[in-house]
Amino acid sequence: MSVIEVQHPLVKHKIGLMREADISTKKFRELTGEVGRLLAYEATADFPLEKTTIDCWSGPTEVDQIAGRKVTVVPILRAGLGMMDGVLDMIPNAKISVVGLARDHETLQPVHYFERFVGQLDERTALIVDPMLATGGSMIATIDLLKKRGCKDIRALVLVAAPEGVAALTAAHPDVRCWTAAIDSHLNEQGYIIPGLGDAGDKIFGTK
Ligand code: URA
Repeated sequence: MSVIEVQHPLVKHKIGLMREADISTKKFRELTGEVGRLLAYEATADFPLEKTTIDCWSGPTEVDQIAGRKVTVVPILRAGLGMMDGVLDMIPNAKISVVGLARDHETLQPVHYFERFVGQLDERTALIVDPMLATGGSMIATIDLLKKRGCKDIRALVLVAAPEGVAALTAAHPDVRCWTAAIDSHLNEQGYIIPGLGDAGDKIFGTK
């Protein structure tokens, strides 16, 4: 299964809090960061370790360190920015690549308007962040862009996924794993996830 629904109780509790209709911008933004951190923790669980010797207070000591892993966090504008800092809290040395994709509200297709990738993508793990995997169009387009630039280890973090987005992503990119806090019921005619979170970008930025 390339889409992994994280079952950790903290993740389930926090995503439940985010579904409150009258949640404040502050609370929604905080929880977006917290769930982003927890998803980053899950998505990096297989990073390989190597031994190194350091000067410990008690003398030279062998410790573990992550083995030469270069990471780029890839927020999809605009809502992905809300998850970015949470991921960077966990991986402070990560570089940031940005993709701008807006959803055409009639066709529901992603419209590409911006990209700025860091170098050496062929040597990096890319962690794409976008709160809502709805139709999957923006995620698939971002993965297409990363693969075109040689990126071979691509992972995605989303807060909530629709079954339609899970199916589309799995069909288009079966090699890419996506961690989500919840897989919800369905998409409505406007392309919103039900029950979902509403418009995650508006809730993070306080716009309406
Ligand atoms: N984007 C959102 O912000 N919410 C949805 O439910 C679907 C797409």
